[in-house]
Amino acid sequence: MKFFALDKLSIITLAMTASLTVPAQEKKLPAPAFTGGMPMNEVVAARRSVREFDSSREINDSTLGQLLWMSVGVNRPAATPSASGAASGRSNPTARNWQEIRAFVFGKNGVWEYRPVSHTLVLVKEGDHRSLVAGTKSFSQDFVMDAPCSIVFVADMTRLPEGGHVRSMALVDAGIACENLNLACVSEGVATVPRATMDVAGLSELLGLTELQIPVMNNPVGYARQR
Ligand SMILES: Cc1cc2nc3c(=O)[nH]c(=O)nc-3n(C[C@H](O)[C@H](O)[C@H](O)COP(=O)(O)O)c2cc1C
Repeated sequence: MKFFALDKLSIITLAMTASLTVPAQEKKLPAPAFTGGMPMNEVVAARRSVREFDSSREINDSTLGQLLWMSVGVNRPAATPSASGAASGRSNPTARNWQEIRAFVFGKNGVWEYRPVSHTLVLVKEGDHRSLVAGTKSFSQDFVMDAPCSIVFVADMTRLPEGGHVRSMALVDAGIACENLNLACVSEGVATVPRATMDVAGLSELLGLTELQIPVMNNPVGYARQR
């Protein structure tokens, strides 16, 4: 029947529209490249902070996946037996192999957590929350909003022993992940700046973090604006 056909068409159209506007709950990222990239000497020679982003250029999933893998991804099976009980080795060293650094991607339509083992992004919150990465009402860096996404490193100490020393180690570990990303960005031709500025309270509330889960560093990621 014509009526039925039209109705079916509207349902399909609605479903297609919804799939375009509602972000997927989980995205498999393209497999990272274990070879290639820029020579390390050239990466180090070119590393610098960039604060001017081309707001019209997006980062594709392949590049984003490569950046996340180089920052906190799985680069080898765990040594057997593994002292920490970890099932895999990471590109970022962590104290006692705690692997407590979590990476969250703040994009224009959602916040995702990177899952290193499955190399996937899992949706945590819908919507654009990049302003929390830019800063607070009292101090904010607006250039963050020009970058298509920002990666926030959270030191998750919930499964670690207690004590001030542990906290220092977790902060160091977050710095290492962040520097991995700084260097990865150079290799991938992407601009970034490591930042401690952000709305820690706002981010913690949004992500449902406890006081043992600390947003330590973030990196806006995008292509440099051409002058
Ligand atoms: C721990 C840390 C925190 C930083 N926080 C910020 C920040 O909040 N905002 C910013 O624009 N740059 C920040 N930076 C970037 C530094 O300002 C920058 O690395 C420094 O000026 C040296 O410049 P270069 O990275 O181009 O060599 C931070 C860097 C580090 C290591």
